[in-house]
Amino acid sequence: MTTTPTALSTYASHVEHVASIWSACMSNSDFDAVLIDAGEHTPYFLDDQSPPFRLNPHFGHWLPEATLVGSVIAFRPGEKPVLHMLSEADFWHAPGTKPSWAEGSIAIEIHHDRASVIEAASRQMPARSAVISPSADAALPGTTNPTNLLAALHFQRARKTPWEIAQMRQSSKRAVAGHLAAEAAFRDQRSEFDIAMAFLAASRQMATEQPYSGIVALNEHAGVLHYQHYDREPPEVHRSFLIDAGASEFGYASDITRTYAGDNQSAFAALIDDLDRAQLALIDTIAPGMSYVELHDSMAARIAALLCEHEIINTSPERAHDEGLADAFFPHGLGHLIGLQTHDVAGQQRGPEPDISKPPSRYEALRLTRTIEKDQVFTIEPGIYFIPLLLEPIRAGESAGLYNWRAIDALMPCGGIRIEDNVVVGDNGCSNLTREAFASAAQGNAS
Ligand code: GLY
Ligand code: MN
Ligand code: MN
Repeated sequence: MTTTPTALSTYASHVEHVASIWSACMSNSDFDAVLIDAGEHTPYFLDDQSPPFRLNPHFGHWLPEATLVGSVIAFRPGEKPVLHMLSEADFWHAPGTKPSWAEGSIAIEIHHDRASVIEAASRQMPARSAVISPSADAALPGTTNPTNLLAALHFQRARKTPWEIAQMRQSSKRAVAGHLAAEAAFRDQRSEFDIAMAFLAASRQMATEQPYSGIVALNEHAGVLHYQHYDREPPEVHRSFLIDAGASEFGYASDITRTYAGDNQSAFAALIDDLDRAQLALIDTIAPGMSYVELHDSMAARIAALLCEHEIINTSPERAHDEGLADAFFPHGLGHLIGLQTHDVAGQQRGPEPDISKPPSRYEALRLTRTIEKDQVFTIEPGIYFIPLLLEPIRAGESAGLYNWRAIDALMPCGGIRIEDNVVVGDNGCSNLTREAFASAAQGNAS
């Protein structure tokens, strides 16, 4: 982990932007000041051990330094924000890292116990102050986590600043280094566990530092959408490999999936190539003003057409899509907002108010239903899976005759395919952070 972020020269304008968003949202909710609590360790039930610390993302929006456990940021519109940093006198643990790189934009005061942090942060707070904290009883003065203020802040977070995009570009690069090592370990016939270790080492992260637990799935396991185990022994044959794994850079996530075939001449390999092309063609159509729900529908139509082309479904692409014949092969959403969280907040929010726009029932797993806007960052992650739990009822049903069960049975041992990129929406098309990172790694290897 680097200790100074990339693109530091853009941090000051990021903080100015964050300050203007917070000032407007606070004014609309009638708050004059806010205290943002990083959060504290929360031990497991009846234990003195805690799960890995996760920074309050609202704190991270200002200052994504993951080690600032127990610290508080105080902000009043028009004034420089102050970080009240907890740096305990503790010979059991090392203190958090002082983010000196942020001092031009955020004042830093050091305190040696949590009580002093609370006391200093609370000093001269006006009556109308809000507290944003993971804890309902953080002992800070003000209204804790007011619904309308949180909703307004969440809605705004979908659009990223240049500084945030620079962190995500960097986290994509780190994840891609891991993906390349993982593919090599797959080609080397290694176990899921060994592949996962190769990913972590090459992406320079501990398992607990990942933005989400990496999915490393060989063969049938690729058909379990969030497969969570790591077999210690390699399988007898390496038919397929799906890896969904990302990295975190100053709190900003990348979320990347690739799928590989053991045999590059197989029907499974051909399906991977075609899904890859279809995913890129869909990304080419993205523009501000479009509906993400329609984008999902367009991908579903492309997948239906692919399944007809590969003679997995025996009817016209139009009928396959209209009648939902391909839906069981693509049972998750096309993507989600990404940023300080892997599944960033407010994907279904209609506007700054808390109201939600649910996806249509056909696509009920879709996490993102918003209109696409410039500077949003989201994933595009289509999949084609051969999941017995979803396909067996179709085999036993009325429309079974429209499917080629011999082809499906041959593909089932490969599990499934997912291809996931992270894209930034521009005025005219997207920047694809994932493809750029793979291209830059290939260029580095070639030179
Ligand atoms: N890795 C979780 C997802 O792709 O959404
Ligand atoms: Mn994702
Ligand atoms: Mn993913």
